[in-house]
Amino acid sequence: MSKLSDIYSQLPDQPSEKTLARADYEARHWSSPVPGPLKPGSDEHKRAMAAMFRETFNPYKPSVIAWPELDPQTLHRITSLPIWDIAVQTEGKARLRMAAYASMVGDPDIKDALSRNAWEENRHKEVLSKLVEAYGIKMAPEPPYIEPKDTEWAYLVTGFSECVDSFFAFGLFALTERTGLFPPELIETFEPVMQEECRHILLFANWLAWHRATMPWWQRPWFELRVLAVWVFLAYERVGLVRTMDADGNEHTQDNNFTVSGTKDVADIDLSLPEFMQVCLTENERRFSGYDHRLLRPRLAPNMAKAVIAGSKIWGCVAGGVRKLRKSA
Ligand SMILES: [Fe+2]
Ligand SMILES: [Fe+2]
Repeated sequence: MSKLSDIYSQLPDQPSEKTLARADYEARHWSSPVPGPLKPGSDEHKRAMAAMFRETFNPYKPSVIAWPELDPQTLHRITSLPIWDIAVQTEGKARLRMAAYASMVGDPDIKDALSRNAWEENRHKEVLSKLVEAYGIKMAPEPPYIEPKDTEWAYLVTGFSECVDSFFAFGLFALTERTGLFPPELIETFEPVMQEECRHILLFANWLAWHRATMPWWQRPWFELRVLAVWVFLAYERVGLVRTMDADGNEHTQDNNFTVSGTKDVADIDLSLPEFMQVCLTENERRFSGYDHRLLRPRLAPNMAKAVIAGSKIWGCVAGGVRKLRKSA
């Protein structure tokens, strides 16, 4: 593995349109040349997941992003979104937790992929910090980033949390794009970040399958209990808002659940929950469609969305039937 700092020093300042288009295409399309199934736990599967992550790297550079001028209304809409503190801190924590876990991993392929993932989280933090600076968004002071004591737990929390948040963020981002409330240049700036999260959760889903398949059988029950506990923790964490203070003592209300509840804020449209779930599902499928179909995809959030859609259809049929019965009675 070349040192990650070397990758950064090689990022082009002003790539040509052609280079940009090629990097963008390559970040979204990847297939392993190895024929046959990629069985989790096998060397082929492990190498394919690491190669996917390495070869779909998009070499954009946060420091050269030209932030577009915004009209006062759009600027206000952006600065008042209740997400900036949480977004910056989440990326900072993700970088630290992934780097900490990567340092514990013995396998060189997995270590390489997870280290790259940590590096990309830091780049997301840089992108957000530049945006905050460019638009003068008031931020609460960042808490110190402390190395996790339980590295595996912290990595699992970050990984599963990204799987859920990214699924809903894909839908929200598509709605933002469709309604045109934000300038296209801003949408374009965040598009690679969105696709990167897709690669991250693709890596996480495959790492998880690999980890399960390669751990000794007697460790498995304890691990599955921990996975269950992570989901309980995430459900608990997502209930309610987080309050933080900025340097001037102003209170900020941050929404942990914004990716689900934010359609009104970013797209100014009223969508029913099943309609929003359908947008998320379609986007999720689209973003994953270019990657080798033998690699596993995260399943829980899409399955939850399908259940909500199916439930609402059944409810619609039942309610329609009851209405008919009442009319005929
Ligand atoms: Fe990120
Ligand atoms: Fe990520």
